[in-house]
Amino acid sequence: MTTLKWQTAGADPEGWLSRAEKVIHLNPDGRAPSLTAPPEGNLRVGVDLGTAYTVLVVLDEAGNPLAGEYQFAQVVRDGLVVDFFGAVNLLKTLKDKAERRIGRPLTRAASGYPPGVPRAEVRATTHVVEAAGMVCERLVAEPEAANQVLGIHNGVVVDVGGGTTGIAVLENGKVVYTADEATGGTHFSLVIAGATGLSFDQAEVLKKTTSEQAGLFPLVRPVMEKVGTIIARHLRGSAPESITLVGGTALFPGMAEVVQQVTGIPTRVPAHPMFITPLGIALSDNDTDPRRQDG
Ligand SMILES: Nc1ncnc2c1ncn2[C@@H]1O[C@H](COP(=O)(O)OP(=O)(O)OP(=O)(O)O)[C@@H](O)[C@H]1O
Ligand SMILES: [Mg+2]
Repeated sequence: MTTLKWQTAGADPEGWLSRAEKVIHLNPDGRAPSLTAPPEGNLRVGVDLGTAYTVLVVLDEAGNPLAGEYQFAQVVRDGLVVDFFGAVNLLKTLKDKAERRIGRPLTRAASGYPPGVPRAEVRATTHVVEAAGMVCERLVAEPEAANQVLGIHNGVVVDVGGGTTGIAVLENGKVVYTADEATGGTHFSLVIAGATGLSFDQAEVLKKTTSEQAGLFPLVRPVMEKVGTIIARHLRGSAPESITLVGGTALFPGMAEVVQQVTGIPTRVPAHPMFITPLGIALSDNDTDPRRQDG
């Protein structure tokens, strides 16, 4: 079993993730707590424009989670910005709310992209962040960002989001291969909608209802198997030590078991998988990180 590692503190990464999850609030309903005093030093800000959720998280210089906001929105599809103004307005809302909570303006942010997305589309992501009022100097591939939190040396990180499955293969702590494909939680919801006659939005709600998930498992199992097949295809017969699943879709019970059956590789889902990628994006908003990718 791979242990979670966190580059800045190291001591209690699960505790860190659970603290992070507590400060990340669903916008606009969450009664988000404010800090008693504005934080000092540089802030590390991460923006994840996802197919399902747009997430903004703020860490202090040492990497302690300070605030986070997220909202379901269909402004990005599979890494492509499909509603530029919608994305900018949403991000401005999340930024305003986070600024009120921490008592300081957010002036810069790192952002992520699914590996394999064309360069022009990655630039569109930068433009969204900048139009929302933050300088965006750093862009990281999403599964690489997730590994900033996980710290896996040898293994595979798979980010199963709303629209895409992103894969990063790590050898000796370095990313040696990345890929992504358009399968994710949206397909789970479409399958549920098709089988039950519910609308997509109703199927989304049903899918996330814990008490319904065992009954829905037979419906979504083929999509889980497809995720497993995609991973196996990209591994091309190599046998990594482990697969770690992150992203919101990893929350559906049974994901790790099905992926393990299909790939034959030990698979696990860490606690709090949904915010690992946006938190990793924020961790990589660090002036001294050599992986900086300008432009
Ligand atoms: N408890 C849950 N059980 C099952 N699925 C869930 C749960 N919570 C969220 N999801 C699903 O997770 C997906 C969103 O995950 P995530 O935020 O990682 O995706 P995203 O970053 O927006 O998308 P992408 O990375 O593909 O662009 C949605 O399809 C959502 O329905
Ligand atoms: Mg994502």
